[in-house]
Amino acid sequence: MTIAADLRILYRLAFAPVRGTTHAERLESFYHGQATGYDDFRKRLLHGREQLFSRLPTPKDGVWIDMGAGTGSNLEFLGDRVNALGEIYLVDLAPSLLKVARERITQKGWKNVVTVTADATRFAPPDTLADVITFSYSLTMIPDWFAAIEQAWHLLRPGGTIGIVDFYVARKHPEAGSREALLVHAPLLAHLVRR
Ligand SMILES: C[S@@+](CC[C@H](N)C(=O)[O-])C[C@H]1O[C@@H](n2cnc3c(N)ncnc32)[C@H](O)[C@@H]1O
Repeated sequence: MTIAADLRILYRLAFAPVRGTTHAERLESFYHGQATGYDDFRKRLLHGREQLFSRLPTPKDGVWIDMGAGTGSNLEFLGDRVNALGEIYLVDLAPSLLKVARERITQKGWKNVVTVTADATRFAPPDTLADVITFSYSLTMIPDWFAAIEQAWHLLRPGGTIGIVDFYVARKHPEAGSREALLVHAPLLAHLVRR
């Protein structure tokens, strides 16, 4: 990563106008100019991703869905465990980031990984439930993140795990008793296991 590349991304983050009338259009408008430099730049900002991905299970022939997967770089934290899984879905609304993910899939020779342009609040894989569903710094970008968690819970097989890493996720006015569960400090690492 060169200083010029860093400056280009900083410029886009700070000054480039974000256009679009839908969430998907605004995401693509935000990301399309930074997709190629995304991984290097975010490596220094988005902490806890390796810890999360290395702790989660990779059941043999299992199904993993990464919601808001971006460039799919987090899969690299699984190393060879990627190959144990049956199907991996990288779901995102920004085509320019998923293009980088597809280049990674080709370069790594992953045969069980596909990208899907879809909204995390609505995506469901064809004819299967999931063993693991991850949200890595994506929940805080999803306007209705409650709906995203509900959808993930709905898609999860009994015994399956939802893994989350993010900055700070809290209701503005949490109910008594919910505060400890919802009020967390960056980076949040959470595992929810469906019984
Ligand atoms: C900060 S990036 C994180 C990307 C990647 N998970 C990582 O750890 O580097 C947030 C991602 O969430 C995606 N995203 C935001 N809202 C989404 C939604 N409703 N459905 C699917 N993806 C969404 C964005 O396009 C973006 O790729």
